[in-house]
Amino acid sequence: MISLILWVLLPAAFALLFRNFRSLFLERNTTVLENNNNSATIMLTASPPSPSFSVATPGRMSASTAATTVVVPVAEKKKAVKVKAVVTVKETTGGFLGIGMDDISDFIGKALKLHLVSAQLHLETGLEKPLIKSRTKKVSEKNGEVKYATELEVPADFGEVGAVIVENEHYNELFLIDIVLDGFENGPVKVICDSWVHPRSKDSKNRVFFTAKSYLPSETPNGLTRYRAEELSLLRGNGEGERQQGDRIYDYDVYNDLGKPDNNPDLARPVLGGKEHPYPRRVRTGRPRTETDPSSETGSSNFYVPRDEEFSQLKQSGFSATTTAAVLRAVVPAAETIFIDRNLGFPHLTAVDSMYDQGINLPPRTKDSPWTDIIPRLVRTVVDSADDILQFVVPDSMKRDRFFWLKDEQFGRQTLAGVNPCSIELVKEWPLKSKLDPEIYGPAESAITTKIVEQQIRGFMTLAEAMDRKKLFMLDYHDLLLPFVGLVRQQEGTTLYGSRALFFLTPVGTLKPVAIELVRPPSKEDGKPQWKRVFTPANCSATEEWLWKLAKAHVLAHDSGYHELVSHFLRTHACLEPYIIATNRQLSAMHPIHRLLHPHFRYTMEINSLARQALISAGGIIELAFSPLKHAMQLGSAVYDQRWRFDYEALPKDLIRRGMAVEDPSAPHGLKLTIEDYPYASDGLILWDGLHQWVSDYVNHYYPDPSLVSSDVELQSWWTEIRTVGHGDKKDEPWWPSLATPSDLIEIVTTIAWTASAQHAAVNFGQYAYGGYFPNRPSIARTNMPTEDPTDEAWKQFIDTPEKVLLEMFPSQFQAAVVMAILDVLSNHSVDEEYIGQVMEPAWGHDAVIRAAFERFHGRMKALEVVIDARNANEKLRNRNGAGVLPYELLKPFSEPGVTGKGVPYSTSI
Ligand SMILES: [Fe+2]
Repeated sequence: MISLILWVLLPAAFALLFRNFRSLFLERNTTVLENNNNSATIMLTASPPSPSFSVATPGRMSASTAATTVVVPVAEKKKAVKVKAVVTVKETTGGFLGIGMDDISDFIGKALKLHLVSAQLHLETGLEKPLIKSRTKKVSEKNGEVKYATELEVPADFGEVGAVIVENEHYNELFLIDIVLDGFENGPVKVICDSWVHPRSKDSKNRVFFTAKSYLPSETPNGLTRYRAEELSLLRGNGEGERQQGDRIYDYDVYNDLGKPDNNPDLARPVLGGKEHPYPRRVRTGRPRTETDPSSETGSSNFYVPRDEEFSQLKQSGFSATTTAAVLRAVVPAAETIFIDRNLGFPHLTAVDSMYDQGINLPPRTKDSPWTDIIPRLVRTVVDSADDILQFVVPDSMKRDRFFWLKDEQFGRQTLAGVNPCSIELVKEWPLKSKLDPEIYGPAESAITTKIVEQQIRGFMTLAEAMDRKKLFMLDYHDLLLPFVGLVRQQEGTTLYGSRALFFLTPVGTLKPVAIELVRPPSKEDGKPQWKRVFTPANCSATEEWLWKLAKAHVLAHDSGYHELVSHFLRTHACLEPYIIATNRQLSAMHPIHRLLHPHFRYTMEINSLARQALISAGGIIELAFSPLKHAMQLGSAVYDQRWRFDYEALPKDLIRRGMAVEDPSAPHGLKLTIEDYPYASDGLILWDGLHQWVSDYVNHYYPDPSLVSSDVELQSWWTEIRTVGHGDKKDEPWWPSLATPSDLIEIVTTIAWTASAQHAAVNFGQYAYGGYFPNRPSIARTNMPTEDPTDEAWKQFIDTPEKVLLEMFPSQFQAAVVMAILDVLSNHSVDEEYIGQVMEPAWGHDAVIRAAFERFHGRMKALEVVIDARNANEKLRNRNGAGVLPYELLKPFSEPGVTGKGVPYSTSI
């Protein structure tokens, strides 16, 4: 009887067990109800796969809570695949592997947990497939990388892997390089991470990394839609609270942390960004407000930037055991130990030269001697002595011609091939006239008359002919600076004028300076009227010759300030930050445009944050050493307000706006240059075209149908946010390009990529070559012209000792040393620099079409190097070739580390 019962019940029990096991393997959340030859009927119980990537679990998939009955084809019953996963982690000094706790974690088997995410939802149920999870084990450690590996069994019905969720069980954060999944029929799947992952104990959210395949939002595989949206939501944050180191939140704020009003009322600064002082937005840090000024944010020893925007350990130890951060923070206190009197000028010109020849004795060396740590390139240790010497490296311009700074030919040449080649413009109207209100600023007419100009160009042509033939050019800082003259002159140790410098294009293609006009507006305070004078290069008068030198020093100081505040910081560093924030907030990491722009944004937020701490802040280097002193940043804001336009940041449009080129379909780049030998423009146009072609190939590949641009929701949100939030003070401007077609997108992306790479390189890496000998580009002109309201005594001093007057006008010893030390650091390429067209992003290589396009781009950049070398060897191109002339190499794409005066990194990182 018992046997009979067993015979009847056992098969039933086995059948039940079999059904249960099958349900476990087939789908964790399903129960098999019935089988036949072609299908299995299952009941869905719809509990979410675990662990959840999301913090909350939003309405996940359509069938979520109710039990549903569906039919699953037997095709899903294929054999599972064994996959080996290898995770590569970078060995870093600051984070992972720095503390023994993680060795213990590895030892006890707590390491990295992986969860594979299927790119597809379950075909019939519309539910996410269960994650496949496994804990990795450390398998190797060499060459600065640690590898973790595991094996996973991937069911045949899992489909394509779309993402990997990583759970870090270590005590410390770690830097993930990539994850490779090997064993699939179609070859290995690579997941590029290049990101810090917080330990699970400190961050409840696991990290999701998508595979290298890029998708427009509408093409996102349905299994990844939720992950795509949630990841973006995490990166956007909720706009509240103070950001902590290690956070990954990208949000906007105004420049409200430049002042230090709680320290000293004189260190209060206006907020930049907003109606009163328009400026691009910076990343939000959420620090507490100051007690004195509720609109200002307090300082901190270390400003927040999202974790992945921080310099890598390699970059931090990049150049000769020093760091950019240390230099920016420590150079002023260090200089104060050497130059006790900040205002003391140089006693004679040979004292200037001795900074390069003999050097300056530094205070006795201590264990933590700041100078040696800060700028080792400039500090020479004296053998058998307790002292070190600060000895500036002779800049390349000076190496070629010790007297280069005195020459008018250099003055003209550097407007076309120097470190600020983007201010020179064609004179389009004559006579010159101010657009400022004459009631406030005095008569608008320039004092540079036709007669004055014709005296200088006599033998070449008349002024009318010069205008007609586009031969007159100008550096025009008149209307921009004049409104600041009164403010700036209220400060000790500086002065200011509105200025114009006029140049004539000679038949050999060089710019001959013909006149400088300096203007002081009328002053209500002291009742002085408008003052304006014209200075010309005099041939036969010693007095005029010295006045010309002094006037030139003023214009060079104006150009130098404009260069740092506008051409360099505003137009590249500051204007890029909103693009970076918007890209991270609105374009998923799997969006092709995110991946295209990614290398162009490397380290920009970090260097900008350092600039806010030490360079452009109250009492920072810019305020100490540049003519406007504490009003410097307001000047940058005025330019942003009056002149900055996104569309003019494209090189061709900028050249056309300044009259330096006209459209010409028959010309090589569709442009004919007004000055043929304009090295920045002629090399720049080749680079622009190469970049434009690469971006076109890329965009056209991902947007084969033009309507995909306007229907790309992420892309549209990105562009809207750039226009209305990041550059929100400009949101109502009519000139913003629309983003409706692939060609719109190509122009916009090329402009951003150009700004981050070539434009920044052109204005950055020549800073020491041209400013490293400060008389060539003084950062400040501290005294008025001796012809402005002169006293008898002052005039006599000028006549007796004009060199002394020039030296008093030049920066003080303290100012010169600080600026030159900074320029040396800023001109430096780090050892891990990534040059444009040289390094291919791993995600680009994933797609054969993009890989081929990149290789063409690389070829164009290599070819540009050859063209630049050939141009520099061409004796007819006198702005880049000639006795003692520095070749123009700033737009040569590649470079070795150090101060090389060439090399175009992808991004603005210094
Ligand atoms: Fe820079």
